[in-house]
Amino acid sequence: MAGPTAIVSALHEELAAVLNLMPDEQQQVVGGRTFWRGHLHGHDVVVVLSGIGKVAAATTATALIERFNVQRIVFTGVAGGLGDGVKVGDVVVARHFLQHDMDASPIFPRHEVPGYGRATFDADAALTEQLMRASESVLRELPAQLPDAVRSAFGLQTPACHQGLLLSGDRFVSTTAESTLLRNELPDALAVEMEGAAFAQVCHDYGVPLAVVRTISDRADDAAHVDFPRFLREVASRYSAAIVDALLAQQ
Ligand code: ADE
Repeated sequence: MAGPTAIVSALHEELAAVLNLMPDEQQQVVGGRTFWRGHLHGHDVVVVLSGIGKVAAATTATALIERFNVQRIVFTGVAGGLGDGVKVGDVVVARHFLQHDMDASPIFPRHEVPGYGRATFDADAALTEQLMRASESVLRELPAQLPDAVRSAFGLQTPACHQGLLLSGDRFVSTTAESTLLRNELPDALAVEMEGAAFAQVCHDYGVPLAVVRTISDRADDAAHVDFPRFLREVASRYSAAIVDALLAQQ
């Protein structure tokens, strides 16, 4: 592979766990972001925080492609569950992405990205398949290794791995009223977060393969903020690091 693999997270807790797996990383600052270059299972990798929201995410994706010549991008993070049966502690692997707050109607249909003639962008099929396998293998083992107190605090039982539509927008969805609206408008959506669809649009522009995995931290409802930092620290960061590790180990 000519250029490195990018590993991206939105939040520091998740990235710290991935950086701990790298023996030799070196920092470089571009556009106010710190990029760590190094190796993981013999793969040349660049690790970076995306920043939160679609603009920060699009800038980070562009810098990865233009300045670091990355050949593929893997994004790990958390999301709010929307789909029926998408529970806290489950994992969603994105097949398609949509910006739920894109609305240039009545000039363009609701959610269509002007200039593209489409509302959704696709994840790379082959990389996504590999990420799905890595996520499933982690879900078979990791939950049982978490302390009982953590499992019962978040009601984690038998986590499932889902694949399908992921929504992104510049809002942390934290009311039942808003998540109900999203579910009614976009019934295929599995989960909502704030960066994936921006990465997907930039990766589409440049023809760079993208795969995104999100651990479900909340149900995007009135209780969405409760225990969010604890979930990140004690569950999501472990999932992220283990999934990235399993993905790169299998290649
Ligand atoms: N990331 C994790 N939970 C989220 C939510 N409820 N809304 C947007 N982004 C999220």
